[in-house]
Amino acid sequence: MDAPVAEADVIFVDFPIWWYVAPHIINSFLTAHDFSGKTIVLFATSGGSDFGRTQDELEDSVYGTTHLMEGQILNGKQGKEELVEYVNSLAL
Ligand SMILES: Cc1cc2nc3c(=O)[nH]c(=O)nc-3n(C[C@H](O)[C@H](O)[C@H](O)COP(=O)(O)O)c2cc1C
Repeated sequence: MDAPVAEADVIFVDFPIWWYVAPHIINSFLTAHDFSGKTIVLFATSGGSDFGRTQDELEDSVYGTTHLMEGQILNGKQGKEELVEYVNSLAL
């Protein structure tokens, strides 16, 4: 079984870009849990937009000791190997 959030040091959060940022349910998810000291990597799909202000708009939903970082926009076909290579390149 996958480790519960409390046991994870790094969490990958993926969502569609809505109106240039993450849907509000992502803010709600982040405020509903204590991610202090953890790293959250953002992934998204979109109709063409980049992350823009997405990360900034999520910062108020986490404690200051949570490290939020942009991952990738995953539009188009993404091979598992490319994704694994990318995640490994983050050296988390
Ligand atoms: C309410 C709404 C707002 C959206 N706003 C944007 C946007 O600002 N920029 C963008 O590139 N795509 C936007 N999209 C497109 C979605 O990001 C896109 O459909 C989604 O990432 C694709 O994932 P899906 O195939 O699971 O729907 C929006 C879609 C919806 C429904």
